[in-house]
Amino acid sequence: MTSEVSEPGSPSVLEISQLRVAYEGRTVVDGVSFRIQRGEIFGLLGPNGAGKTSTLSAIEGLVRPASGSLLVDGLDVEQQPLAVKALLKVQLQSSSFQDELSIQEIARLYAGLYGVKLSREQVRGNTRPVGLGDELGKKFKQLSGGQQQRLALYIATIHNPLLLLLDEPTAGLDPQSRRGLWRHIEELRAEGNSILLTTHSMEEAQAVCDRVAIIDHGKLLTEGRPSELINKHKDGPRVLSVAHGAPTLEDVFIGLTGSEIRD
Ligand SMILES: Nc1ncnc2c1ncn2[C@@H]1O[C@H](COP(=O)(O)OP(=O)(O)OP(=O)(O)O)[C@@H](O)[C@H]1O
Ligand SMILES: [Mg+2]
Repeated sequence: MTSEVSEPGSPSVLEISQLRVAYEGRTVVDGVSFRIQRGEIFGLLGPNGAGKTSTLSAIEGLVRPASGSLLVDGLDVEQQPLAVKALLKVQLQSSSFQDELSIQEIARLYAGLYGVKLSREQVRGNTRPVGLGDELGKKFKQLSGGQQQRLALYIATIHNPLLLLLDEPTAGLDPQSRRGLWRHIEELRAEGNSILLTTHSMEEAQAVCDRVAIIDHGKLLTEGRPSELINKHKDGPRVLSVAHGAPTLEDVFIGLTGSEIRD
């Protein structure tokens, strides 16, 4: 997989240093640091409650970090929130649009909000890769869960953001839609966009992510290319105890984060 195609000297698309997020005094993201380069797909992996969505919320400016710094393309998220907002787009874990509006109307409404002019034909062409090109007249409430999710991904990419944040973009999708979405994400990378996604699917992380980080209890445990992480941790006793045969990324994940089910 390609990665780190940024020009020498250009800032990282995202640079997180010692990020701490707390809710009512309880720390849920605890000193997390990582960088994402231009044209890179970075996966944030972790069990339920690990702090993935909270990290994304801090990048998006929805949650104020207790400490640490967040730079998007060299701009400080806290000091230049509007400039940063113009560079990124977020697909939340559950996205919702106006029930009574059709796909065509929603697409043109959001394009308008971002100052992008889209003709009907352009919407038709652009929604094909996410499998919605023939459903444009359907109202949001008439779409299946997977179709709603694919619409949310399309809307998130309308203004060609530098950094796209996707929180569990393929949860609940059928294998066809999941593959379609991977393809779409890879196309976005090929156009120079960077993507930070969260996923519980190790298969997905291995298939599309250039690099991944595993976090648990708010702390970053390890980071690297999926193949590097397997190599690095494959001989650990906890990894070996859960592996069936040659250790996989999922074995590394469970070996590092434990087998207990989270709240
Ligand atoms: N708005 C909030 N107020 C208080 N606590 C919160 C809030 N949002 C999240 N939390 C808590 O912070 C911790 C981290 O939650 P977060 O949503 O970041 O986890 P996650 O890694 O995205 O998990 P999942 O895989 O289940 O989506 C959890 O213990 C959660 O209960
Ligand atoms: Mg989450």
